Amino acid sequence: EDLDLGGFPHYMAKEIQEQPESVERMIRGRLDDRFGVARLDGLNLTPRELRGFSRVKILGCGSAYYVGQIGATMIEELARIPADAEAASEFRYRNPIIEADTLYIAVSQSGETIDTAFAVEEIKRKGGRVVGLVNVVGSTIARACDGGVYLHAGPEIAVASTKALTNMAVGFALIALSLGRVRDLSNADGQRIIDAIRALPGQIKAVLDDEPAIAEHAKAAATAKSLFFIGRVRGFPVAREGAQKFKEISYRHAEAYQTSELKHGPLALIDDSLPTVAIVPADELADRNLAAMQQIRARGGAVLAVTHENVDFGELDVPRIVVPRTEPELDPILLTIPLQLLAYHAALTLGYDIDKPRNLAKSVTVE
Ligand code: AGP
Repeated sequence: EDLDLGGFPHYMAKEIQEQPESVERMIRGRLDDRFGVARLDGLNLTPRELRGFSRVKILGCGSAYYVGQIGATMIEELARIPADAEAASEFRYRNPIIEADTLYIAVSQSGETIDTAFAVEEIKRKGGRVVGLVNVVGSTIARACDGGVYLHAGPEIAVASTKALTNMAVGFALIALSLGRVRDLSNADGQRIIDAIRALPGQIKAVLDDEPAIAEHAKAAATAKSLFFIGRVRGFPVAREGAQKFKEISYRHAEAYQTSELKHGPLALIDDSLPTVAIVPADELADRNLAAMQQIRARGGAVLAVTHENVDFGELDVPRIVVPRTEPELDPILLTIPLQLLAYHAALTLGYDIDKPRNLAKSVTVE
């Protein structure tokens, strides 16, 4: 088993570092420069069928659900179709309305998560069309779906998922491109996204090169009993996933909030014992995010910003993790990577069992 670790101390460390190559595998043969579109033959959907959907519903559990939220935003932005993600574990218990013109997407690393498999079953029983975004070839969910896109992330051993989630997010970008290009997304915009997708492996490598600095931030974060992770719109599911990863392996309470919601309640908790990790991309909300960070600082709360080079922090003096810019729609993919390292190094500092955290299984196959 040690051999498989390839010299890394933990599978999670290995899987984080594998991401440039696993994203390469995800996109290989799937980008079509001639028409600025993704080629996803496994979906088993003709352009005409793709055009016929007027809504997208994404279902997954845990981190796969959070990546589903990233995917829903990508689909709304690039294809302009109403899209949302829902926890698959809740889906069938609310007697969901299954619509013929909705494209259902089930997302799962293992393909064996019982809650997600039951959601697929419910959709199919009621006549819905469901495709999978799954890593394990031939798994239960992959077989149950009407078509799908495999993640090609390779085996993922660590309970805390990393490389599979990144490939899910890239998969959603490809699906958003496919849905967009049979609607209003122009060839030029399609090509803009394709070029950005192609640059991702090199950019992920650049984030990973920053590991020593991120490890230092993690040592500081590990001393806190509780943390906030905050973000807005594209940044909110990133914050949710960052908090989830932190909780899973460092056993610290970490809570994700929309930055905009802080002032509606949780700001009352802020003091010098509750640090905040703020997701601050260089987008149209950067100024508002800066204002929120100022409010936190004014109450004595420490802030660590995960941000881009060209965000002007003005007088605000807070530590930053800077990730490379991509096209705004794809920002969540790169913003998530440092949060994996943050969680990993916090757990390492605290001396916990990183690959097999207490109370958790790699895939949840019982309800
Ligand atoms: C991720 O770090 C978690 N271990 C967990 O939330 C996981 O993503 C979830 O259980 C779904 O698993 P799946 O992708 O195999 O369906």
